Amino acid sequence: MVDSVVSQKTVSNVSVVSMANAPVNALSKALRVGLIDAVNKAISDTEIEAIVITSDLPLFSAGADISEFSGGDLSPMLPEVLALIENSPKPIVAAVNGGAFGGGLELALACHYRVTTEKNKVGLPEVHLGILPGAGGTQRLPRLVPAATALQMIVSGAPTPVKVLNDMFIKITTPESLLDAAVDVAQQAIGEVIPATSKIEIAMTEQLATVFAQTEAHTAAKARGFFAPAKCIDAVKAAFELPFNEGLKREGELFMQCMNTPQARAQQHFFFAERAAASIPSIAKDTKARDIQQVAIIGAGTMGGGIAMNFANAGIPVRMLELEQAALDKGLAVIRKNYENSAKKGKLTQEQVEQRMSLLQGTTEYSDLSEADLVIEAVFEKMSVKKQVFEALDKVCKDGAILATNTSTLDVDEIAACTSRPQDVIGLHFFSPANVMKLLEIVRGEKTADDVIKTSMKLAKTIRKVGVLVGVCFGFVGNRMIEVYGRESGRLVLEGATPERIDKIIYDFGLPMGPFTMGDMAGLDIGYFVRQSRKAFIEHDPSYCTVADELVEAGRVGLKVGKGVYLYEQGSRTPIPDPSVIEIAQRRAKELGIEQRQISDQEILERCIYPLINEGFEILKEGIAQRASDIDVIYVYGYGFPVHRGGPMQYAEEIGLQEIADKMQHYHDSLGEYGKHWFKPSDLLVELAQSKQALATYKK
Ligand code: 3HC
Ligand code: NAI
Repeated sequence: MVDSVVSQKTVSNVSVVSMANAPVNALSKALRVGLIDAVNKAISDTEIEAIVITSDLPLFSAGADISEFSGGDLSPMLPEVLALIENSPKPIVAAVNGGAFGGGLELALACHYRVTTEKNKVGLPEVHLGILPGAGGTQRLPRLVPAATALQMIVSGAPTPVKVLNDMFIKITTPESLLDAAVDVAQQAIGEVIPATSKIEIAMTEQLATVFAQTEAHTAAKARGFFAPAKCIDAVKAAFELPFNEGLKREGELFMQCMNTPQARAQQHFFFAERAAASIPSIAKDTKARDIQQVAIIGAGTMGGGIAMNFANAGIPVRMLELEQAALDKGLAVIRKNYENSAKKGKLTQEQVEQRMSLLQGTTEYSDLSEADLVIEAVFEKMSVKKQVFEALDKVCKDGAILATNTSTLDVDEIAACTSRPQDVIGLHFFSPANVMKLLEIVRGEKTADDVIKTSMKLAKTIRKVGVLVGVCFGFVGNRMIEVYGRESGRLVLEGATPERIDKIIYDFGLPMGPFTMGDMAGLDIGYFVRQSRKAFIEHDPSYCTVADELVEAGRVGLKVGKGVYLYEQGSRTPIPDPSVIEIAQRRAKELGIEQRQISDQEILERCIYPLINEGFEILKEGIAQRASDIDVIYVYGYGFPVHRGGPMQYAEEIGLQEIADKMQHYHDSLGEYGKHWFKPSDLLVELAQSKQALATYKK
């Protein structure tokens, strides 16, 4: 044993070095030191003639230890370990027993030979962390696989099945025979010239230059706003244009350029945020999840249909209930059409379509739901209707069945209270389209049992969603914050900014679309009905929604009717600005005594984003979100907030909490009565800004 994270044993004349840094063999300092010690020991041992490096864990290695990126004494660095390996006078074989990612794959690339198992996948996912492979990956990979493959792997960061990388592996075998195969390869290499990946000659050609140009163009469009992907391409290009050592130096420079960006900080924050969201410290670790074998869904409309597809896709049978047969038939027909469309695009076979449809059964009788382990209600957003449904479910559902509501705004506790089992009631708030969007807000009611929450979190994974636990309040986390953003964009139009300008500023910030394009797409009538049912909320100052209200009342409810804030040509989703909307805004502003003026891009951005962030602090203060990073996960997966900004709370941290608080105060003081009401900086924001406490360490 060289170190607790590395073990070493001798098989005949071969030293087998095994990494065991649980859970994923992150190449932390301890593991790097352990590897250096083990390899040096094997090199100096006269009985040893070759070396195998493998792992005792299911994964070969997940690469550099991301938690070390924040600094500290990191020596020896990974390139040093890899240089020792590549320059070893004894042949070294990587036995890649499981996934090898980032530095983990770079380690394998520096070995003289690689063997792996048939179903394995490897990759260089650094781009998802806002960086690029920094331990020779961009220089060695293109020397072992075709340039286009290397480029694709490094720029996309996607895991790649080893079966398409057979140039890189000398042998692809079964898990059982991997170690024997590696030892065999090592022994056969004894006495032979030791190949070094870095010595393989590659050069730029005209044909390759075209591949690079195409990749650059494609990446600029696909990875809009991201810094690292273009740098990945530059680094791979260097492999073809420079000798190995110079290419390595160029890779190092580009790596540091990426590492020092807010984007890298944001994307690394997000990596941990996503994993932290799965943790609920208030629930005992040994809490058992309930078994979910059968699901029922009430309401086969837009959401009910999408939700049902998630379960059918995961092989879980679903009963769908509507009160009228016609509505049921319509709902099931929409689902079939969705699946058929996927089949037309080649994403599903016809057999898979039929298999998924066979898991969906319709009913108009509540008594058919008695065996369901989980029921999700997705009927109209009206408390009286929801209550009728839950009362009916309470009568027919078996003991222990979880009763969930997909409400986007209503009080989950009030719904739970109309049943005799509030401990079994929870909110499962899917986002539209429910079969596509990855986010699932899991709304914990006052009385929801821990095992119901645990089951819901587990279920989110089963249906390939990211579950985030939130508490009960109007709109929960996501919609409560988006309302603020919608309000501000509406008010800015009254103050003289055009919808298309606001949309462009938000798009350039990195969201997939601005608030007006989003509103038209979702339907302006949705917000209108919410406002009608919450008159008390807007009574204070209804100014910001006057334009939207006028449009809805004139039947301009958005894309579905070809006109909303924008106009749309028949069959087109491209928004066309409409001067008559500006006229409405001008007239309304005059009536309300709002002076129209030139507004800077910076003010537009700040006024849309900072109040949304401020609301995030209120949500944290109230304990509606468990932690700031959960809000980021909700925004990236539910609203398309750019991951290169890490989510709204990480963006606030990057800008500086004091700056956000100061700007809130500035608009509070400069926008008259409107500002006084809507721009009060959150107490928590001010408190954390003053104490300079990192948001990540805040706990209510
Ligand atoms: N560094 C530090 N911690 C890591 C890690 C890494 N590279 N990879 C995973 N972890 C941690 C996770 O945070 C998690 O911790 P937690 O239990 O405390 O939440 C734990 O390991 C298990 O991870 P997952 O839950 O993600 O485990 P899965 O089995 O679902 O997935 C995986 C395994 C596919 C390897 C996934 O963890 C992953 O994608 N990891 C990151 C891979 C990566 O990006 N590598 C590149 C690193 S940068 C690099 O190598 C730079 C180099 O070029 C110099
Ligand atoms: P929808 O109008 O498309 O579908 C509702 C369905 O419920 C209809 O098919 C209707 O026939 C059926 N229904 C109504 N009363 C019923 C009853 N008593 N019993 C059985 N079926 C009944 O509405 P949508 O958009 O699917 O919304 C459903 C729920 O999901 C609402 O609570 C809504 O707030 C929520 N939600 C909607 C989102 C969206 O973007 N549409 C996003 C997230 C949540």
